[in-house]
Amino acid sequence: MILITGGAGFIGGNFVHHWFERAAANGLQAEPVVVFDKLTYAGNPATIARYLQSGQATLVQADIADREAVRTALATHLPRLIVHFAAESHVDRSIHGPGEFIHTNMVGTFSLLEEARAYWGALEGDAKAAFRFLHVSTDEVYGSLADTDPAFSETTPYAPNSPYSASKAGSDHLVRAYHHTYGFPTLTTNCSNNYGPYHFPEKLIPLMILNALDGKPLPVYGDGLNIRDWLFVRDHCEAICQVLDKGRCGETYNVGGINEIKNIDVVTTICRKLDALRPRADGTKYESLITYVADRPGHDRRYAIDPTKIQREIGWQPAETFESGIDKTVRWYLENTEWIDTVRSGAYREWIAKNYSGRQG
Ligand code: NAD
Ligand code: TYD
Repeated sequence: MILITGGAGFIGGNFVHHWFERAAANGLQAEPVVVFDKLTYAGNPATIARYLQSGQATLVQADIADREAVRTALATHLPRLIVHFAAESHVDRSIHGPGEFIHTNMVGTFSLLEEARAYWGALEGDAKAAFRFLHVSTDEVYGSLADTDPAFSETTPYAPNSPYSASKAGSDHLVRAYHHTYGFPTLTTNCSNNYGPYHFPEKLIPLMILNALDGKPLPVYGDGLNIRDWLFVRDHCEAICQVLDKGRCGETYNVGGINEIKNIDVVTTICRKLDALRPRADGTKYESLITYVADRPGHDRRYAIDPTKIQREIGWQPAETFESGIDKTVRWYLENTEWIDTVRSGAYREWIAKNYSGRQG
């Protein structure tokens, strides 16, 4: 049994799929998973419905900051490891309301660490030696790069700029301290921007795909020249599996695809893909919907990951290029309208109104 916090979210949900598909591809029976998830606006059981229905996954709906709920889940399911994805994850939301980010990313991670440490402390023998706590984090903790700066390595000093990245940095420091002080067997991964299926449409790539299909404006912040290092979500999931297998306790591994792309180029790539797969009825190009809007306050200019350590020590390499990954992603959104309908609730429309009204350029 393994316990996955945030397993009904974008990356955690993909991780559940990857966990079972990876084992099946190797002719193995995967261990069952317990998904511990509060089911915020970003959590959607439909993402993992297949495994919930088959009984391979069990859902515990609770807050990681609720220590009693965490304690009960650990005592009931006796996991051999924990993969910690649960977080508030959207920079723009952290600008509008940072409180939830401090609650989940910092207080929640602290609560989870405390309960997991007590649980691990009571284990014995092989179970204790094999236990791992893998903390999933982000490259945003390192701050923003200028065009000529080298990519982030594991020794780059932390310089978080948004309430989101500051709260993730805080959680990374707690995880580090729990290894250093208590010998708690942690692993940390800091990954670049993910994209792929089941991505909540508040983030750049799914928002652009769905707005384009609806004929709505494609809101590009600022000059559109900010750079992100894009990684297909399943490549991230595979990196996590390999770090669980081969990573050294207490270590941090940066995960990235060496895929630095300007935002405007991401958007035009999506537009061209849609022109080919779903041409507009009136014959116009999707690019005509691109609208430059007011910039995000404190917008980080560039992120880039140096993945040398994970490549050298673990042997991980991404399988997808941006071209192949974006093709899979756009096709997935064209084919999965039912999932899309489940996440575009009234609360979603309220967020879109809050974030984009007043931004129009
Ligand atoms: P997401 O917002 O899609 O999903 C977060 C999940 O956590 C949701 O299922 C939500 O219900 C759950 N959750 C939120 N608060 C909770 C709480 N208090 N208790 C229990 N569950 C709670 O996020 P994501 O994009 O899947 O990101 C997962 C992790 O990966 C995060 O820790 C994020 O910081 C990190 N990360 C994300 C990216 C990216 O590009 N999305 C890149 C690098 C790292
Ligand atoms: P996002 O997907 O929110 O990820 P992050 O801020 O964690 O990198 O945004 C990716 C980039 O796209 C970022 O530079 C902000 C930009 N962006 C837009 O230009 N328009 C949008 O509507 C959104 C959501 C993001």
